[in-house]
Amino acid sequence: MKTDTTVLAIETSCDETACAVIKYDSLMKRYFTLSSVVSSQIDIHAIYGGVVPEVASRAHVERIDGVIEAALSEPGISGDQGIDLVAATAGPGLIGALLVGVSAAKALAFAWDVPFIGINHLEGHLFASFLDESGPPEFPAVVLLASGGHTILLEIVGPGDYHLLGQTLDDAAGEAFDKVARYLGLSYPGGPEIDRLSKIGNPKSVPLPRVMTGHNLDLSFSGVKTAVIRYVDAHPEVTNADVAASFQDNAVLALTKRLFEGADRIGAKTVMIAGGVAANSLLRESVEKESKRRGLAYRIPNRKDCTDNAAMIGAAAIWRYLDLGPSDPFMGAKSNMKLSYR
Ligand code: KG4
Ligand code: ZN
Repeated sequence: MKTDTTVLAIETSCDETACAVIKYDSLMKRYFTLSSVVSSQIDIHAIYGGVVPEVASRAHVERIDGVIEAALSEPGISGDQGIDLVAATAGPGLIGALLVGVSAAKALAFAWDVPFIGINHLEGHLFASFLDESGPPEFPAVVLLASGGHTILLEIVGPGDYHLLGQTLDDAAGEAFDKVARYLGLSYPGGPEIDRLSKIGNPKSVPLPRVMTGHNLDLSFSGVKTAVIRYVDAHPEVTNADVAASFQDNAVLALTKRLFEGADRIGAKTVMIAGGVAANSLLRESVEKESKRRGLAYRIPNRKDCTDNAAMIGAAAIWRYLDLGPSDPFMGAKSNMKLSYR
């Protein structure tokens, strides 16, 4: 009996054109990344200081064929040989950008006569840490998903069974990093720049208010972002490195605190981080340190799997397919697609 499932997955929800070939071995209970190709449009959008939707759609159209070819040729797969499923991010994201990936995936699924699976981008992020040798984690797990568009704290009860514990009341964590970076005149996207500069800055140099208040597990970044701007206006002599380090320290402290409060609340067996902000050096260090101190299992995705990629979409697609079967072939792209949770 065949025990492995191989998916070709496509991700085009924002500014990365990505394709990956992922295999899941149900006996070994682990994923194998056969290829993961990401063609970033960061340079194109950097001059505008953010992603321009129409420019993104056009760039996806120009790149998608080459990216799919590269992902197939790396493991030496030709066409329908060995591909059991084709998946694409169906939402949330920029509608024109999503349509490029969904159309390409449906065309391939039709040509190869294999099922099509539409995946929620956020669910994809949750799977990024399943891709390493250890396979799926033990549940219940608590996960902090922090990206440029979302910051949510979820309980993963089991595959596809999510429970919302908290979320940002205003800016997403990545958005706050990007806005502070932009104010400091750093290049887009700002998160990696703040991370880099923080290594040479003093995190205690700029006094900032705590990110969270209250007893629920929500977060709010707008106050600290405004405080950074006010401080820099009043103290023009402060260095970018000191501001970056102070902001990062403050944001990471809040994110880590919420994650472990969530872990306590649900009695989590595993602590996880996901999304672009999970690439942040200090957040990774702080989650690892606190998990070890508490003797809790933790999952931190490889850095390259944190930001947008198709490998995570492939991992989520196989899991969904094995559990629920294929998506409706008429499923379309949906820019405001919600992750279903209780
Ligand atoms: O998940 P992602 O690639 O795209 C979205 O779905 O939003 O996340 C991108 C976000 C951006 O806001 C970026 O600045 C942030 O993740 N980011 C980081 C780091 N790397 C990426 N934030 C902090 N530190 C980093 N090292
Ligand atoms: Zn993302």
